[in-house]
Amino acid sequence: MLENKNILIGITGGIAAYKICNLIRLYKKSGANVRVVVTPNALNFVTKLTLQTLSGNEVYVDNFEIDEYKPEHIALTESDIFVIAPASANTIGKLANGICDNLLLSTACAFARPILIVPAMNENMWNNKFVQENMTKLKTAGYEVLEPASGFLACGVNGIGRMREVEDIFEKTVAMFSQKQILKGKKILITAGGTREKIDPVRYITNSSSGKMGIALADNAYKMGADVTLISTFGVEKPYRNIVTPTALEMEKAVKENLSAKDCVIMSAAVSDYRVENVSEQKIKKQGGELNLKLVENPDILKEICQERINLASHQEAVAPLEGEMSEGQRGVNIKPYNEEHREAQYNSGTSQLCSDQRSTYVAEFDKQYGTEANEEHREAQYNSGISQLCSDQKSTYVVVGFCAESENLIENAKTKIQKKGCDYLIANDISRKDIGFNSDENEVYIIDKSLNIKHIEKDTKENIAKRILEEIFE
Ligand SMILES: Cc1cc2nc3c(=O)[nH]c(=O)nc-3n(C[C@H](O)[C@H](O)[C@H](O)COP(=O)(O)O)c2cc1C
Repeated sequence: MLENKNILIGITGGIAAYKICNLIRLYKKSGANVRVVVTPNALNFVTKLTLQTLSGNEVYVDNFEIDEYKPEHIALTESDIFVIAPASANTIGKLANGICDNLLLSTACAFARPILIVPAMNENMWNNKFVQENMTKLKTAGYEVLEPASGFLACGVNGIGRMREVEDIFEKTVAMFSQKQILKGKKILITAGGTREKIDPVRYITNSSSGKMGIALADNAYKMGADVTLISTFGVEKPYRNIVTPTALEMEKAVKENLSAKDCVIMSAAVSDYRVENVSEQKIKKQGGELNLKLVENPDILKEICQERINLASHQEAVAPLEGEMSEGQRGVNIKPYNEEHREAQYNSGTSQLCSDQRSTYVAEFDKQYGTEANEEHREAQYNSGISQLCSDQKSTYVVVGFCAESENLIENAKTKIQKKGCDYLIANDISRKDIGFNSDENEVYIIDKSLNIKHIEKDTKENIAKRILEEIFE
């Protein structure tokens, strides 16, 4: 099952450390190469000699032995997965705060592939507020966690905190390896979070969206092999690209600038419908009586990118027949369109907006090569060729997925919305329920496609819901 997989096990100073000897045997029996890194404290619970003998490899503990050409913490990252078991409260705290004061921690910090954390500790330690906060941080950062079980603990009491059985850890590892890479080679843009529309330097209008659903989608898309760009209203530490755009206008700009070459756009951000027309430069003071804020409508980003797609498809269709008329010498040149009006029309139609960063070279290159005297016919041909090249990496076939949060008539409203916006899928969730949706760790959704077929995904963690949504759309 795990033939030729390179598994790195990290053992910390917990009483359950001895159980990892059996985990090593399970991995080895199933064909994996196993290396072990331990914290110095772990060696109070299990010996280097045992781990070395079972794994058939050297056991790593020190930070300062240079293995041939690379420091150990970098050499160890060349593994397919890092399983930290048992993970002590101490190590969990350090991992969650980027502390690297031993080899196991430095390795985890530099590790770009999946990390599985298997906590084990006394019940009160597990329930400790800071330990729980650290666990949340790790989960949010994309670490996989195998939650501890309830049972008899080494400290002599029954309670939660017991490390999951090594068979469970083995199964979880197999499941992590079998994560289908259905998005390998795909470029996905995802938006997340509730926008914050400024009133003055310290106040803003926002909504209850936590961004958890969008982040879960981005994490899962990444694990499924996608090249992910997350545009969110707050920053996150992730192994994929993150662009922070607090307001609707900033988000609109970032989405358009990053649409190039994407295969799919998932708009899960809760974008405010309105913003304050005149944001005060100074903090607004009480003036006695009422304060009126004039709100103006924000752009409908979802609708706009669906429209861009239509513009682009019709443009590509229009220029395709002209491409064959170009001579070799005319290709590969970004040129100036034959008149300003035409250029502006193209620009405003959305085509060139998608490629706005290419626009400045577009004009300069033409002038340099042909001057301004080129005849109309030549320019026209150049123009058509140039435009299609400018947009050659922009696909007109990207899948657009929208979200719709409704407090009443969920399905009916969602059906109307998907038709109005023109997207391929709409994920509808009921925000009138307190147990799911906004700000919750769980959700329950309906996936509606453009033919108005409906798929219900029952209540589950946002992680699992995100996985199901991506599988439904891409499998
Ligand atoms: C006998 C004994 C058992 C322990 N068991 C655990 C445990 O199960 N989980 C835990 O988080 N800490 C446990 N500790 C405390 C850790 O060893 C201690 O916090 C240590 O600093 C962990 O270091 P490390 O995370 O660098 O390995 C135990 C300590 C002792 C003496």
